[in-house]
Amino acid sequence: MSVIAIVGAQWGDEGKGRVVDYLADEADLVIRYGGGNNAGHTVVNPHGHFKLHLIPSGIFHPGTKNLLGNGVVINPPALVSELDDLLGAGFDGENLFISDRAHLVMPYHVLLDQLEERERGANKLGTTSRGIGPAYVDKVARRGIRVVDLVEPETFRARLAATVPRIRRIVAGYPGAEDEMAAEIAEATDEDGIADAYLAAGARLARHVVDGQTLVDEALVRGDRILLEGQLGTMRDLDWGIYPYVTSSSPIPGGASLGAGLPAVAIDRVLGVAKAYTTAVGAGPLPTELEDADGEALRERGIEYGTSTGRARRCGWYDAVAVRFSVRLAGYSSIALTKLDVLDGFDRILIARAYRDPADGREWSTVPASTSVYERLEPVYEALSGWQADTTACRSWADLPAAARTYVERLEELASVPISHVSVGPERAQMIVR
Ligand code: IMP
Repeated sequence: MSVIAIVGAQWGDEGKGRVVDYLADEADLVIRYGGGNNAGHTVVNPHGHFKLHLIPSGIFHPGTKNLLGNGVVINPPALVSELDDLLGAGFDGENLFISDRAHLVMPYHVLLDQLEERERGANKLGTTSRGIGPAYVDKVARRGIRVVDLVEPETFRARLAATVPRIRRIVAGYPGAEDEMAAEIAEATDEDGIADAYLAAGARLARHVVDGQTLVDEALVRGDRILLEGQLGTMRDLDWGIYPYVTSSSPIPGGASLGAGLPAVAIDRVLGVAKAYTTAVGAGPLPTELEDADGEALRERGIEYGTSTGRARRCGWYDAVAVRFSVRLAGYSSIALTKLDVLDGFDRILIARAYRDPADGREWSTVPASTSVYERLEPVYEALSGWQADTTACRSWADLPAAARTYVERLEELASVPISHVSVGPERAQMIVR
């Protein structure tokens, strides 16, 4: 039996989707365990170039089952449209399963996400505005609506009817919103409109809805190979990320057991995914961020634009402190290092091995809880020479230029975890296994 969790070791967008797509060939079941359609995975395979938000990347392998676990929050119309895109590309979608315990993202969650960001003004978190945070708030507040309710129209209507008046009261508390966002508010509180759209999506999705725990348990008993697909990364984890610049679920492996529905001890291996440099979308401290030509070069070469929102990603050098922090929380068996080829043209490459506080000169080797402290910390860099050669055609460790191998070995040393995979491009063949 083998259960492997794939977890983001940085701020998200490390390339987990392509790693899952690569490993899904040999998996019987892929489970998404958290987040919602705030996620964005780009998967390039022989069938084309796909942007997935909710559906696990194993969907492209007909023999692989894909489960949206109980820990995921699901926007049913968004899921239907993602499924339709796949059907259009020739996939039948029959290998998609949805946990009946997953919570729904409702139109008023999207509205509340926007209203909360609007109220934060200059202190915006930079959420994806997909309603993810408010959906998890309702889950924790024990008033969420779940997939199991969506396939019981009467229950769904009753829960919706009980909720909409409360949403109207909340909205009334945002000064000026009723004028500025009249159309959005009307749509998000239109009980009949929501019921029609959601129940229609529910009818489409019903054939995919299962008791997720039973599906997972049967797979465990059979000894199936299971991949747990994480969303985002440690630095956006609700507990461990840079609060409040975090998402509302737990990307670390602790969240995988909970959100997939299997015992924590069933996880045999945790594969961390880290990019060969740093990127982030959304606000909050990012010590190695580059606002110069190097940052621009990383963005352009790496095509660093958000898959879900199209926002330009903030780019910077590799932050070994952040990755080591992630290693300690996630206990990676090994790390897959992605997008090494993006560094091909640089004559020298920096790595932040620590942070320094300019206020007192103190050196930090971990991530502080205080956002204001973190904001002022400066990276302590070490420089390595670049390789200035094209690595995209390299297919083995030995093919890589010596300087590229030195760079990877240094990251490995700083993380104290072996780097088992190195990717030099988006195609499946461009994954070097050491
Ligand atoms: P939320 O998950 O939409 O509430 O956003 C919370 C934070 O996570 C923000 O900084 C977002 O930019 C970030 N975030 C959410 N989804 C993704 C993703 O797929 N990739 C990278 N960052 C994300």
